[in-house]
Amino acid sequence: MEIFIDTADIEEIRDAAAMGVIDGVTTNPSLVAKTGRPFKDVLVDICEVVDGPISAEVVATDYDGIVTEARSLAAMHENIVVKVPLIAEGLKAVRTLTNEGIRTNVTLCFSVTQGLLAAKAGATYISPFIGRVDDISGSGMEVVEQLVTVYRNYGLGTKVLAASIRHPLHVVQASMIGADVATIPHKVIHQLLKHPLTDIGLERFLADAKKIPNG
Ligand code: E4P
Repeated sequence: MEIFIDTADIEEIRDAAAMGVIDGVTTNPSLVAKTGRPFKDVLVDICEVVDGPISAEVVATDYDGIVTEARSLAAMHENIVVKVPLIAEGLKAVRTLTNEGIRTNVTLCFSVTQGLLAAKAGATYISPFIGRVDDISGSGMEVVEQLVTVYRNYGLGTKVLAASIRHPLHVVQASMIGADVATIPHKVIHQLLKHPLTDIGLERFLADAKKIPNG
């Protein structure tokens, strides 16, 4: 499974990239707003740090607006993948963009039927939002599982990008199901790394190392 980092914070991206564990980045307008910086400045910085797919979301909601914005984002850097909302106008735009060779990440997916249509429209990635479904007492992971099965059944090439991940168990489950990608917040990437026995073990090794006589 590929790992993307789900943030627009350049320091978080630098940290994860330096560990060598991320294959790409996803952003959304809320994440970019948190940085307090202009969208394009943020994207330029991210493209310098990560050599992999970088999702940048359009804010237009009509076909013409989405296509225009998407072309401009895609022209910024070859690694930009344009995030398009899962609405009818969005799918029309995805079909046009796909025909032009512009990669898309169809976002705000909450059901397998939505994901099926996104794949038919030619989406490069589909982003089922796990945490947000869980938040309303549904099972976000069930949507991921259904998408993986349906795409596999019919050889649809759209990659399942597990999004809205809130904790390490989401990552474990998404990888067991066979999601192609998980986009993970910086905090959760560090949670994946953490184990108390590693910390205790390291502490003991370092204490014992001090007892070794100098040779
Ligand atoms: C990433 O592509 C999504 O926009 C993001 O994972 C949404 O996460 P949230 O539900 O925690 O805001």
